[in-house]
Amino acid sequence: MADYEPVLLRNVGVDGSRTLDVYRARGGYKAAEKVVKDMTADDVIDEVKRAGLRGRGGAGFPAGVKWGFLPKGRKRTLLCVNADESEPPTFCNRVLMEHDPHQVIEGIIIAGYATRAQIAYVYMRVEFHEQFHIMQNAIDEAYAAGLLGKNILGSGYDLEVYVHRGAGAYVCGEETGLIESIEGKRGYPRIKPPFPAVEGLFRMPTVVNNVETLANLPHIIERGADWFLGIGTPSSAGPKLFCVCGPVNRPGCYEAPMTITCEELIMGDAFGRGMTDNLPVKAVFPGGTSMGVITGDELQMKMDFDDPRNFGMLGLGTAAAVVVNNKTDIRAVLRNVARFYALESCGQCTQCREGTNWMYRIASRIEHGAGRIEDLDLIEEVAGRMGMMPGLSICGLPDGATFPIQGIVRKFRGELEEHIANQEPGKAEAVLSVLN
Ligand SMILES: Cc1cc2nc3c(=O)[nH]c(=O)nc-3n(C[C@H](O)[C@H](O)[C@H](O)COP(=O)(O)O)c2cc1C
Ligand code: SF4
Repeated sequence: MADYEPVLLRNVGVDGSRTLDVYRARGGYKAAEKVVKDMTADDVIDEVKRAGLRGRGGAGFPAGVKWGFLPKGRKRTLLCVNADESEPPTFCNRVLMEHDPHQVIEGIIIAGYATRAQIAYVYMRVEFHEQFHIMQNAIDEAYAAGLLGKNILGSGYDLEVYVHRGAGAYVCGEETGLIESIEGKRGYPRIKPPFPAVEGLFRMPTVVNNVETLANLPHIIERGADWFLGIGTPSSAGPKLFCVCGPVNRPGCYEAPMTITCEELIMGDAFGRGMTDNLPVKAVFPGGTSMGVITGDELQMKMDFDDPRNFGMLGLGTAAAVVVNNKTDIRAVLRNVARFYALESCGQCTQCREGTNWMYRIASRIEHGAGRIEDLDLIEEVAGRMGMMPGLSICGLPDGATFPIQGIVRKFRGELEEHIANQEPGKAEAVLSVLN
């Protein structure tokens, strides 16, 4: 990993990295110019497909393939840029928008051109106060320089870009929740099909892509699909951002190929630089909390799109690792994770609304010393019945809610059983009377 040259973060730390002048002086907007002047939309889609760029928002769906789902002969196309970044503890999009907003805008122009979008909406959570102003300033600069608006760089291509601020809810990061929210409604995810490519924002064909996915586009166009495929592995190609947080010496957002292991991300000198006070790693949620958990003995897991499944995880997710040390009570982790999803379930689907709350109540009584051994089977059973069963869940939140819970109960069962066995006699009744 030592000789890896950052691509997505190459401008971070450079004086004036947010400004158009500095971005251009460092080679910026050459790819967008090439695209709008010398390439057809299909050329761009083919190059992105050839590169195998997979979405960085969590599901890893190939970007070029998604664009190919747009109906032929459509009159309007809308592009939604997913800057909601709602997965705990993910902040790669924030870093990109804060330090290199023009890289994101260049990606928007390229995706917009490839999909023949006339309007792009950057959907940003309200907590990103500073990033909102940074993005808006960069968009204003780009308009003034003829990079956005009518007849971009004299090419005849028009693209308007708006930043839309959401109120900050997990489901508003789900693509159809996001679409509803832009439409001014409550961010309730929609039943699919129809998928957004066919009927999305304002019921028009719509593409939703994550900020980091789009930030990769200028580099694919400039350096080519073969260069992109030369980083990582064929199914996990290209530069990738990883977050690491928790009790590590240097929490942060780092860039590496997807051949990096979870251990390197936590311990490596160029990354987390090890655990504070040299405490052992007890657990890691390597893909944001929703993908599940690995133990301190499973750190050899590769941070790519395939290996996490070998460790009982749902996937790579947002590649944001929350690290837990051996001083942390796993019961508190269980309750904290359960609480997040119980609060963020939008409540439209019964098994998600009730199930997330039921898991939270069980996790709470375990943490508060009122657990029962059978609670461990019960919480696993509730989790096992909640996923995206056909017709039951409108969106993927229940899978994200249950993978970490099941993972904690399966991988840390011994510790949970020990806590339950050593509970203070009589406390259970007192706690239960408050919780139930
Ligand atoms: C509950 C839930 C929350 C999500 N939150 C985000 C998010 O904050 N940012 C994001 O890019 N994708 C999020 N997604 C995934 C989006 O639905 C969608 O797949 C993604 O924005 C597509 O972009 P990509 O293909 O470039 O990855 C979420 C999905 C679910 C089910
Ligand atoms: S699965 Fe959960 S979060 Fe998703 S729409 Fe249904 S209730 Fe809302």
